Amino acid sequence: MTIKPVFADATPIGPLPDDQTFLDDVVSGFSAFRKSLPAKYFYDAAGSDLFEAITRLPEYYPTRTELGILDAAGPEIAALLPRAATLVEFGSGSTVKVRRLLRHLPDLGAYVPVDVSESFLRSEADVLRADHPSLRIEPVAADFTRPFALPDGLSGGDVAGFFPGSTIGNFEPAEARRLLAQFGEILGSGARLIVGVDLVKDRAVLEAAYDDAAGVTAAFNLNLLTRINRELGGDFAAGGFVHRALFNEAESRIEMHLVSTRAQTVRVGGLPFRFADGETIHTENSYKYTVPGFRALAASAGWAPGAVWTDPQALFSVHALERV
Ligand code: SAH
Ligand code: AVI
Repeated sequence: MTIKPVFADATPIGPLPDDQTFLDDVVSGFSAFRKSLPAKYFYDAAGSDLFEAITRLPEYYPTRTELGILDAAGPEIAALLPRAATLVEFGSGSTVKVRRLLRHLPDLGAYVPVDVSESFLRSEADVLRADHPSLRIEPVAADFTRPFALPDGLSGGDVAGFFPGSTIGNFEPAEARRLLAQFGEILGSGARLIVGVDLVKDRAVLEAAYDDAAGVTAAFNLNLLTRINRELGGDFAAGGFVHRALFNEAESRIEMHLVSTRAQTVRVGGLPFRFADGETIHTENSYKYTVPGFRALAASAGWAPGAVWTDPQALFSVHALERV
């Protein structure tokens, strides 16, 4: 299969971050006054499995709530998508969400799951193929924040996008705007994009969702350090950091941090990084929107906001956008 660049000026980069890019991102994140790491590095094979375990936790309401919305609104959402379209899912993970739409899309031309977690992406595509043998499924292993290529030969028909899970919340508003605009470039004018967006709510509910009693979210957060040790020759010691999640109300976001349990020096790629006792690595933001707030963000990125569906408790929202 050949691939074509999404942008005319796309630079010939690899679709996935390589070890050097990972190391550069770690070095730059650890060299800043406030240390941080990009959240996309959570998702190695173990991280994807841990995320799936998070989605089944009693405290983690987003997945089951969005699935309920997709079940209730599936026929309406499907009716907005062109027949025989190619459906591109950004950050597809387990593909559990798209299955709820596929029920109502018997004529779908092709499904293109895009994910940075390559082995998970490929095994999930295989499972989906077994359940939908007549559907063309073309997984793309790529970092969707960078220019990447869609598979060629998708017949040049309509393209629609699906971006569930509130993954958009893992980007700061300016980055989220840029990402939505980039998805618009990929999908083309007139395209529809269905986006799942988590909503602002009570602090206790939010903080429990990101600091569960069983410690699965803590393991997900700490897996970043295991990954750095394995892939970049880091020497993070077990017990050197602990998980913390807090709701930053002023920024309307959950922040996840790894907190140093003592003064320590850690080496990564041969370089020393000093951590004070209690110093944190900011590993993730998860922004929580209001419905009008997200519609305004989408509009500022070149998308006309359309229908919105929420659950009865207004915990989560699903938005239909149309590229202007
Ligand atoms: N859509 C699924 C999974 C959400 S978890 C759901 O709603 O349950 C976020 C997913 O996005 C993960 O599978 C992760 O590997 C992927 N992801 C995160 N950052 C990414 C990036 N920059 N490029 C591509 N995929 C990314
Ligand atoms: C993928 N993303 C939307 C999840 C979230 O809720 O922000 C990732 C996650 N982090 C901790 N728990 C789940």
